[in-house]
Amino acid sequence: MLKTKPDGKTAFDVARYRKDFPILAQKVYGKPLVYLDNAATTQKPRQVIDALREYYETENANIHRGIFYLSERATEDYEQVRTKVQQFIHARASREIIFVRGTTEGINLVAQSYGRTSIKRGDEIIISAMEHHSNIVPWQMLCEEAGARLRIAPINDEGELLIDEYEKLFNRKTKLAAMTHVSNSLGTINPVRQIIRVAHRFHVPVLIDGAQAAPHLPIDVQDLDCDFYVFSGHKMYGPTGVGVVYGKAELLEKMPPYQGGGDMISSVTFEKTTYNVLPFKFEAGTPNIADVIAFGRAMDYLGAIGYGPLAVYEHDLLACAAEALSRIKGLKIIGTAKEKASVVSFVLRDVHPHDIGTMLDRDGIAIRAGHHCTMPLMDRFGIPATARASFAFYNTKEEIEALRRSVEQVVRVFK
Ligand code: ALA
Repeated sequence: MLKTKPDGKTAFDVARYRKDFPILAQKVYGKPLVYLDNAATTQKPRQVIDALREYYETENANIHRGIFYLSERATEDYEQVRTKVQQFIHARASREIIFVRGTTEGINLVAQSYGRTSIKRGDEIIISAMEHHSNIVPWQMLCEEAGARLRIAPINDEGELLIDEYEKLFNRKTKLAAMTHVSNSLGTINPVRQIIRVAHRFHVPVLIDGAQAAPHLPIDVQDLDCDFYVFSGHKMYGPTGVGVVYGKAELLEKMPPYQGGGDMISSVTFEKTTYNVLPFKFEAGTPNIADVIAFGRAMDYLGAIGYGPLAVYEHDLLACAAEALSRIKGLKIIGTAKEKASVVSFVLRDVHPHDIGTMLDRDGIAIRAGHHCTMPLMDRFGIPATARASFAFYNTKEEIEALRRSVEQVVRVFK
């Protein structure tokens, strides 16, 4: 919601939005909760929480199977969310949208299905030095199984991908590239269009890990021309346990199922099973119906705010946090890319990030401390861990000031 200021410009009405998030009103150890771990998971607006309750109170039934009213209603609502996702990320068709549990499961689906049929001994897969473990380990497992090789595109000291070095990794053996859109540890926004264009020059398909991008940036998979795009609902104000794999239909059609079970079949005999059409071929068993429907409300919520105003506001928060923290003596920000989403990772002299996190917690401030599931990235910077504050559109400059004061207190205690 935008309020008009006296000068005619509009302001982001953060106070209004905060009222939609019941959890933000609570106190922790007697202090107002300052929730700055949005890269791990975001809080949920009342609209999403209500959708879950409404579903279980009025609609709960299994889908794609029932011939009764509730089942038909649940099926319709579930499938409407698929269409909503299609429109949200500008996919060509709703059959290109597969619901999974989250980004991790989505990447594993592509690695196990596309990967196992397309990656052979001696082939190469390119990833980057800033990947989350979930965009490293599934490819490592595949490489071990297939006898393929994982190649790592390097980054500079600011945490930006070295695009020329990335390009040099391509050769005839390259069969896939998998890259994060936004780094969860550094906040770097990667030039994914360019990354994809380079790969396509070598006829190599690209998977984009969009877990950290989808909450902050509008996604247009046709414009990007990515082959797979994977993201999680819980990082964009929806429930946990819902994720999306977008894949180009021509690739998904050729891929074998990831899991076997009910709903993914067309016919079964003991001699032979034939598989269902897209997207059902990849959704074995009863899916996460309630959470998918509630995820639909989260997309409605984000759509109503609009990525434009949201990005301007979050960028302002990021600049304010980076400026406030960098004034603290002995504090170093890790990840200073020119293009960044709202993540500030930092180290403070030899104070262990866990101690920073614990002390901030006593002030009601929730941040993440550790390697953030990016151990190779920590090695790249020669550190074991960072403290990380990550912002959402419901955070405020007052909360950033509380963060600064609390970190100053850590400096005093550990001097
Ligand atoms: N990937 C999530 C994070 O960065 C859990 O915190």
